[in-house]
Amino acid sequence: MFKVAVLGASGLLGRALADELALQPDWQVVSTAFRRAGSQLIALDIRDAQAVAQFIEREAPDAVVVAAAERRPDVCEHDPALARALNVDAVRYVAQAAARRGAWVLSISTDYVFDGSQPPYRYDARPSPLNAYGRSKLDGERALAETTAFGCVLRLPLLYGPIVDWTESAVTSLVPAIAASAHGTADTKPAVMDAWAIRYPTFTPDVAFVIRQMLEHHARGEAINGIAQWSGEEPMTKYEIALRLAEALQLGEARLTPQYTPTDATPRPHNCHLDSSRLEALGIGRRTRFDTAIREVLVKFPWPGDAAGSS
Ligand SMILES: NC(=O)c1ccc[n+]([C@@H]2O[C@H](COP(=O)([O-])OP(=O)(O)OC[C@H]3O[C@@H](n4cnc5c(N)ncnc54)[C@H](OP(=O)(O)O)[C@@H]3O)[C@@H](O)[C@H]2O)c1
Repeated sequence: MFKVAVLGASGLLGRALADELALQPDWQVVSTAFRRAGSQLIALDIRDAQAVAQFIEREAPDAVVVAAAERRPDVCEHDPALARALNVDAVRYVAQAAARRGAWVLSISTDYVFDGSQPPYRYDARPSPLNAYGRSKLDGERALAETTAFGCVLRLPLLYGPIVDWTESAVTSLVPAIAASAHGTADTKPAVMDAWAIRYPTFTPDVAFVIRQMLEHHARGEAINGIAQWSGEEPMTKYEIALRLAEALQLGEARLTPQYTPTDATPRPHNCHLDSSRLEALGIGRRTRFDTAIREVLVKFPWPGDAAGSS
């Protein structure tokens, strides 16, 4: 039986992946978490090399997907040691243990390995990260490549999908400010939304589907190695995302103001559009339209008093 280990199965992407893999009748899936470990999720701190090695020895998976990471740019900027431990060293520990067992590793990375000045970016374009998060993820990519040839990096852009908290995704984290702008008094200031950076919001169930297809390739002896990328294809700024969210939430008059110059404390790239053609050429991929997918998210996790969620 084909066995997959998902590390970080309690996170935004990991949960969608665990849900997708659970639909595979002939596969065995073993999932781990850290703070949110529980009955279904084995506790594993991926910063602990020995614990990682023991877990992989004991479970003997055919493939390991690394969805555990520190993915908040501001946290990485302020705590580079934590970023390094999770995004670089832990990837190396997993790759070393997996290589000893002959398991394939799929390690998730980000479009922030690019500086965003020359999109679109092919998988073999030269990375040039602008911030500590991007640098740590690029070093993690290199740690995987240095340790094993039997592995793949999958770069992804801004993710959204089923949430357990508004702050889990940079897409849904806009909702409280949008709602406040709609429900405020005449004196309430409009919500200011970035209209400078171009993002390609990508739905986690679509990414999970893509990863499942990549695992199928491996299961039939055609593992995809090196670097691959997957992205939604609807460009939008956070301001445009907020307009669509306001419409989906049916909150009435959301008052949003576009901000045309970057104001982030942590430098962020302008447009890191990822070229997905390497996977598309293999027949891999699925894209749900943003307006459809975001409504699915909001139905499952409605804003209090939100008409879209209550219908
Ligand atoms: N979110 C995005 O917009 C985005 C965009 C591009 C790429 N990515 C990449 O996609 C991957 C998944 O991101 P995500 O958004 O799903 O992240 P997330 O929601 O923040 O989840 C992080 C996961 O890492 C686990 N984790 C944290 N510390 C750990 C430790 N010491 N040992 C073991 N596990 C630990 C967490 O477990 P507990 O919660 O149980 O502690 C959780 O399962 C990451 O590689 C990220 O860089 C994300």
